[in-house]
Amino acid sequence: MPGRAWGYWTRGKLDILQRYLDAFTTATKNKAFERIYIDAFAGEPENIDRLTGESLKGSAAIALSIDDPPFTRLRFFEKEDKAPRLKKALLAKYPGRDLKVIGGDCNERIPSELNILREWNRAPTFAFVDPSGMQAEWRTLKALAQFKKGRKWKAELFLLFAAPMFIRTLPVDDGSRVSDVNAIKIDRMYGTEDWLCIYHARLRKEISPSQARDEYLNLMRWRLEKNLGYRWTHSIEVLNEPGSIIYYMIFATDHEAGNRIMRDIYAKAAREFPKMRAEARRLRRQIEYESRGQNPLLDLDDEELYAPVRSDEYFYEHEPPSRPSLCERESTDITELQPGSQLAMPL
Ligand SMILES: C[S@@+](CC[C@H](N)C(=O)[O-])C[C@H]1O[C@@H](n2cnc3c(N)ncnc32)[C@H](O)[C@@H]1O
Repeated sequence: MPGRAWGYWTRGKLDILQRYLDAFTTATKNKAFERIYIDAFAGEPENIDRLTGESLKGSAAIALSIDDPPFTRLRFFEKEDKAPRLKKALLAKYPGRDLKVIGGDCNERIPSELNILREWNRAPTFAFVDPSGMQAEWRTLKALAQFKKGRKWKAELFLLFAAPMFIRTLPVDDGSRVSDVNAIKIDRMYGTEDWLCIYHARLRKEISPSQARDEYLNLMRWRLEKNLGYRWTHSIEVLNEPGSIIYYMIFATDHEAGNRIMRDIYAKAAREFPKMRAEARRLRRQIEYESRGQNPLLDLDDEELYAPVRSDEYFYEHEPPSRPSLCERESTDITELQPGSQLAMPL
């Protein structure tokens, strides 16, 4: 059975992952015997580029193929129904490795698995948290951040954050209100109700959709730094082919080397992503033309073939998050969620 089909941005995301993991294990080569890799949303053994049909390794296979030096303990989480296929493929391809595929909701399963790994928590640890929507919960990020409690450095986090997706989930038309189900999902993602201050400012039309998106991203980065204690967070936006942001990739570390390495990798990605996007658009146009029996090279001029990208897409500059300013009250963490309770907050 082929893997899931993805857009060009999947290749971009996985390039960043591969480059960082390579650098991460190399940096620990003479300093550690163990290296741990956690993949909270492990996906399929391979992905298929939906334009070219090419197959590319999924994150699990990428982590397992890092070899100089390799990760020594790898834990992959995936939904119950998809885990067996991943497990079978990985065990066949990487026999003898200390790898485990754990089926079920990663938010439920990660804490107990981290407990089992606790005796090795001296090991440099990297966690990839790559949901396709709003499934990654704050308690999971917190458990990962606390895994190496008492050690010098925390587990590094590489998180896909779909802020634009929940902008679509949060209605702003007159008289509308967010559904309880979605409000609870977002509470769980943030571990706080503070996102409501942004939403309410948006409802009052005090901020634009793009300001709201920036605020949602800022709140997540702020909490990673201030609540979980990461020293640096980096984020880079990822655009779909037409140019809308589909997610942000947030990296959190408290290690100087991690900070420096990911800053360089993000700067390189910022230069490469627009070209990859332009190439994906060109290819899509070509496929459309060919399906109509037209020759794109004869029928399109260069400008149409090579869709322009915004000049500001090419730069990456690290800016720390700022203290969220839209909430008047002190921020509080949610421990027990009461369905609907958060909606009581006045506008
Ligand atoms: C974006 S894909 C992961 C892609 C993969 N990391 C890669 O780069 O090749 C997200 C995956 O998360 C899985 N998933 C969704 N909710 C989950 C949950 N609560 N626990 C574990 N896996 C989940 C989905 O089945 C899907 O395969």
